[in-house]
Amino acid sequence: MATERTFSILKPDATRRNLTGAINAKIEAAGLRIVAQKRIHMTTQQAETFYGVHRERGFFRDLVTFMTSGPVVVQVLEGENAIAKYREVMGATNPANAAPGTIRKEFAESIEANSAHGSDSAENAAIEIAYFFAGCEIVG
Ligand code: CMP
Repeated sequence: MATERTFSILKPDATRRNLTGAINAKIEAAGLRIVAQKRIHMTTQQAETFYGVHRERGFFRDLVTFMTSGPVVVQVLEGENAIAKYREVMGATNPANAAPGTIRKEFAESIEANSAHGSDSAENAAIEIAYFFAGCEIVG
């Protein structure tokens, strides 16, 4: 298995409830290393661009409003099989379907306020990381 990098967002519902440490404890316990991290307040334009693939979906406007409703923590995670591993640690998008012990099962409030985002493929991980981080900000 190869060492990979994936992109993570701790969403506004997580920062609002002071859960970033608890969520990152699960990420680190899974063997993933946080190699870049910053707390930002996304602009509407940043959220629209980041979630551009969902532009035609009915939930797009609400998603952008939610993601700009408070600070988020954007981060790069590194480890063996990091993309699939982080998706496993997060659990299903809808917390109602998430497995016990996962981030979304334990912390998510709803399918929208689901505490964490993670890249769904190596291709998207590279795009998402490059959108928020310069190479020199990633320290492995
Ligand atoms: P995320 O992994 O950040 O990618 C897109 C987000 O859209 C997703 O997590 C959900 O939080 C949000 N979302 C809101 N409604 C839906 C829905 N009906 N189906 C899928 N994603 C949704």
